[in-house]
Amino acid sequence: MRYGTFDDEKLEYCITQPDTPLPWINYLGTEDFFGLISNTAGGYCFYRDARLRRLTRYRYNNVPADSGGRYLYLRDRQTDDYWSPTWQPVQSTLDHYSCRHGLGYTVIASERKGIAFSGCYFIPIGENLEIWDITITNRRKEEADLSLFSFIEFCLWDAQDDATNFQRNYNIAEVEVEGSTIFHKTEYRERRNHFAFFHCSDPIAGFDTQREAFLGRYRGFDQPQAVEQGVSFNSIATSWQPIGSHQVQFHLSGDESRRIIFLLGYHENPRSQKFDPPESNTLNKKTVYPIIREWEHPERVDRAFSDLKSYWKGILQKFSVRTPVNHVDRMINTWNAYQCMVTFNLSRSASYFESGIGRGMGFRDSNQDLLGFMHMDPERARQRILDLAATQLENGGAYHQYQPLTKRGNNDIGSGFNDDPLWLVLSTSAYLRETGDYSILEESVPFENQPGSEQPLLEHLDRCISYTKERLGPHGLPLIGRADWNDCLNLNCFSDSPGQSFQTTTNREGKNAESVFIGGLFVLAANAYADILDILQQTEKSTRIRSYANEMAKVTDMAGWDGQWFLRAYDDQGAAVGSHHCTEGKIFIEPQGICTMAGIGLDNGHAVQALNSLNAYLSGKDGIALLWPAFTHYYINLGEITSYPPGYKENGSVFCHTNPWIMIAETKLGDGDRALDYYLKICPSFREEISEIHRCEPYVYAQTIAGPESPTPGEAKNSWLTGTAAWNYVAITQYILGIRPELTGLRVEPIIPKDWEGFQVVRDFRGIRYNISVRRKGKGNHCQLNIDGQDIEGTVIPLSVVEGKKQVMVQAIIQ
Ligand code: BGC
Ligand code: NOJ
Repeated sequence: MRYGTFDDEKLEYCITQPDTPLPWINYLGTEDFFGLISNTAGGYCFYRDARLRRLTRYRYNNVPADSGGRYLYLRDRQTDDYWSPTWQPVQSTLDHYSCRHGLGYTVIASERKGIAFSGCYFIPIGENLEIWDITITNRRKEEADLSLFSFIEFCLWDAQDDATNFQRNYNIAEVEVEGSTIFHKTEYRERRNHFAFFHCSDPIAGFDTQREAFLGRYRGFDQPQAVEQGVSFNSIATSWQPIGSHQVQFHLSGDESRRIIFLLGYHENPRSQKFDPPESNTLNKKTVYPIIREWEHPERVDRAFSDLKSYWKGILQKFSVRTPVNHVDRMINTWNAYQCMVTFNLSRSASYFESGIGRGMGFRDSNQDLLGFMHMDPERARQRILDLAATQLENGGAYHQYQPLTKRGNNDIGSGFNDDPLWLVLSTSAYLRETGDYSILEESVPFENQPGSEQPLLEHLDRCISYTKERLGPHGLPLIGRADWNDCLNLNCFSDSPGQSFQTTTNREGKNAESVFIGGLFVLAANAYADILDILQQTEKSTRIRSYANEMAKVTDMAGWDGQWFLRAYDDQGAAVGSHHCTEGKIFIEPQGICTMAGIGLDNGHAVQALNSLNAYLSGKDGIALLWPAFTHYYINLGEITSYPPGYKENGSVFCHTNPWIMIAETKLGDGDRALDYYLKICPSFREEISEIHRCEPYVYAQTIAGPESPTPGEAKNSWLTGTAAWNYVAITQYILGIRPELTGLRVEPIIPKDWEGFQVVRDFRGIRYNISVRRKGKGNHCQLNIDGQDIEGTVIPLSVVEGKKQVMVQAIIQ
């Protein structure tokens, strides 16, 4: 069953039923100001940091689901009927409903009893405000007499504190109202110099800013007293719960429309100009009015909306594809690219599964997100790499997370996830392959943000490599630390106290437990680093690094080989994890992927065998499970992974992030059919038809799909903020389609299914547009390239061949 359809022309997903299995959300905002919006206008917005600068309140895990958002109420003053034109929160029957999620905007439209509504929500590029562009149309023959009430609940800035510190927070709220603008200024009198504003372009009949006045005692959002009675109380919040609600009253004759623009924004005043008059406690609004006056104009809004569309058009045209499979096209051309942008912007901080208060920017997460983002905006990617590197520790390790507002490492979680540093090498390598901008390696970057500790980025990469080298265990494999990519494989944790964090509790010295996964990752990263050093002509060093990679490849292939697949790890006692000797968790997905990607076992048949074993034991109709058999009870020596019931999350769900590694691995073995087959199983568009089982949005990847050993196989969770986005994008574009930036030029080396006749790609690379047309002539993978009429050797188009051109035509024949 479906709850909507893709509109591939308009690059939108159109939801036609409001009660989707879960809220299906979208993101607003491009750089500093962001919003989450669900298909029934739920969600919230924040400036830069979802925890520290939250503008509006949202209650996660609430009843009914998805309570709180950008609410509007329409009231028919002739009949006293009132409803929510976005369905929530009143949930009255709508004669028509649609929600179109587009790139950076959402349009919700509805109709009830002849009153049509359309609301377009977006954040203009470069602005710190969201726009609700509302049009109400009277489709009745007779005149309609209507009120429109707006409603948002302000958050007292720090979302964590807001949700917990009531003894203080019920005493501090402050607002001001002037004309049609409501200003939220809690804590402004003391140390803050920012405030929020909620403005309506029309003159208002009344307003409310105290929640209880608007809602009435013991009432929910679904039946506010103000709306029911058709009056606003002009309440001024002093303490308790500040809200913003405007009431606009208007008449519409038959077929007449009214357009009303709401602005919800964030503004900072210079510290010396906070108040007006200066000695008062009254907000200085002089600095914000020009912004409000500019944005309440419909023409300005229209222009900004078309700018947003052009912005996305510009980004998407950097890579577009036409293949025989529509699911691939719409994901790569639109939704996958879009999700890569969202994960780049937000890492794992704010979604409908990530509360915005827990995790900031993850070190390994953001480095991997970059892999799918690089070509979209290399400038921003460059800055992100430098920000990440600046949180690295002098010993080469990394803070696991940092807060976006301060860009400082997060002490609560600390470091010691031993895979972390290696991802920085891979993201930097991807940046260099995309741009050829080696100047980034000379950028002077501090450690732990400490002034005076600056070293060139290249030195940071060096330390990433030595961090692993200096932490090898009894088999010569890398020590795992608190965890590797799998945050839940906590081999040094040994926790027996409820509530202890698996990730930060360490009860073993950490000198024994080793990770085969980090072994593979090290080989991948060290070789990528050596390639860079070759270009820099640092031959001696590159030879040394390559020898590290070779040694590690050998060790991993010996100590990490179980006979039919790669082991996952060795625990603190030196027992193998992910071995046929184990009774549970015999085989894991991660090492099969990463080792093959790193080239381990390609020449002795191990890789083929590993992927065949994986196919036999882990692959199912909903994708490839993380492990098998799932753990049925808690193993203290393995940690959080065994805390999940079988088939969920790291304990044997289809943890989607890892599936593209296998797709890439399959292309290394030349099997395009298997690679694509694996893709389609987790592809949200392909799964759209089973939306009542999958439950998450059909336009973005979810982190996890319940595995075959769970009671609910096929059920997805944790959509949006997942490394699945970047890795799928890379697996498809760079390995299946085979259009892969290299340090020496653009590679075109498709490994596609046997029955594909070909495909077309347009790809911008280092200032040149490559029009690539691939045609299959035989069943093999051999690829012959022809550039502007000239055959070339090999599959990398050398930079010298295309120098000075703006466009090139690439014909590729596969046989
Ligand atoms: C989850 C992991 C996640 C980790 C982050 C765990 O509970 O299962 O997927 O990476 O928390 O702290
Ligand atoms: C989600 C985390 O964000 C990511 O860093 C981790 O690799 C996976 N979970 C697997 O545990």
